[in-house]
Amino acid sequence: MSAAAPFAYVNGELHAERVPLSSVAAQFGTPCFVYSREALGGAWREFDAAFAALPHLVCYAVKANANLGVLDIFARLRSGFDIVSGGELARVVAAGGDPRKVVFSGVGKTAAEMETALAADILCFNVESAAELALLAAVAHRMRRIAPVSLRVNPDVDPGTHPYIATGLRESKFGIDIEDAPALYRHAATLPSIAVRGVDLHIGSQITELAPYRQAVEKMLSLVDALAASGIALTHIDVGGGLGIRYRDETPVPLAEYAAMLAQLFRGRREMLLLEPGRRLTGDAGVLLTRVLYLKTGHSKSFAIVDAAMNDLIRPSLYDAWHAVDPVHPRSTEPRRWDIVGPVCESGDFLALDRPLALHEDDLLAIRATGAYAMTMSSNYNARPRACELIVDGERTHVVRRRERIDELFKPESRLP
Ligand code: LLP
Repeated sequence: MSAAAPFAYVNGELHAERVPLSSVAAQFGTPCFVYSREALGGAWREFDAAFAALPHLVCYAVKANANLGVLDIFARLRSGFDIVSGGELARVVAAGGDPRKVVFSGVGKTAAEMETALAADILCFNVESAAELALLAAVAHRMRRIAPVSLRVNPDVDPGTHPYIATGLRESKFGIDIEDAPALYRHAATLPSIAVRGVDLHIGSQITELAPYRQAVEKMLSLVDALAASGIALTHIDVGGGLGIRYRDETPVPLAEYAAMLAQLFRGRREMLLLEPGRRLTGDAGVLLTRVLYLKTGHSKSFAIVDAAMNDLIRPSLYDAWHAVDPVHPRSTEPRRWDIVGPVCESGDFLALDRPLALHEDDLLAIRATGAYAMTMSSNYNARPRACELIVDGERTHVVRRRERIDELFKPESRLP
């Protein structure tokens, strides 16, 4: 990440940019997500600049963090966006993003979503099956429009990540087997309501090695060359997202190395390079601020029960993910090992296990690297209102999503007549 660390200790207290986190908690309550504007904008600019030598478009993967304030920062930088639903398209538009820079991914687009996206004039549909192509062609025909299309190929490479977030292996539900792609491209080229534009892939998420990318992109480029030889010329090549960050002790792929690899593979090519980073742009830019409610020390385990839970951050429960937990005011007393758990009635409701910390009740903790796949995966389980989201900008704090109120939770519901 560029510039100074967005979250750092100043006079013994953790700050977001220049704002002490204790004052954030006092003013807005906990649990809350605190994002740094500088970290978000800086990560996008750094990512974009790495590819300056190639014609390219950074399409931020909205699923990582879809808050309007976050999207607004990227929209002002003239980012493209990678969406997976009509809901995400609506968010991009509401945040001032340009729909003509939107690529639409996902295996289950509905006819209604296709209509909205066609009407919004998006850049490309990343089609994931022959059946989806048929529906898209029919919808576009009915609307008298031409749908720009890329086929998502499955290159059958192992990205070496958690099985739930590996997507480029043959057995995954994503994409079209790369051997089957040429026939589907030939078919697509005959459809009058379809304009064949590109090819895309996404092999997985939280990837920390370069080799799977090289393997996958090389396979994709041979496909592009074979298509060109048979008269199907593509205008863009989309390499997806997936670059990992450091949660614990991972060694993320340096951006410069990733960019150099792509520059080498794309040397002499004319197609535009599309990239779909999500986590890499937002992950490190946020913390989940939570307060210790109770300390419970048993014979075999000690629990710190905090006011955030698996409904706010499900990654530890779902993927065994490890997030650093930093006290806002570190104490110099002897640490003890704590399981940091939430109030949800599930044994799987933990945020961190076996962490050496010196804790008192009412202490504030920052759960790090929660700018990606935290709020977007949150729920109202146990009828818990969702946390508020804040963006800190220097000395200022903007509420970009206020805390949900309990009455809102069941507003769409009704009793029987
Ligand atoms: N493009 C496509 C087509 C994707 O499916 C994804 C993520 C991305 C781009 C962005 O990937 P990123 O650069 O953020 O790795 N909930 C999981 C991650 C799921 C990722 C799904 N697809 C987690 O919390 O780790």
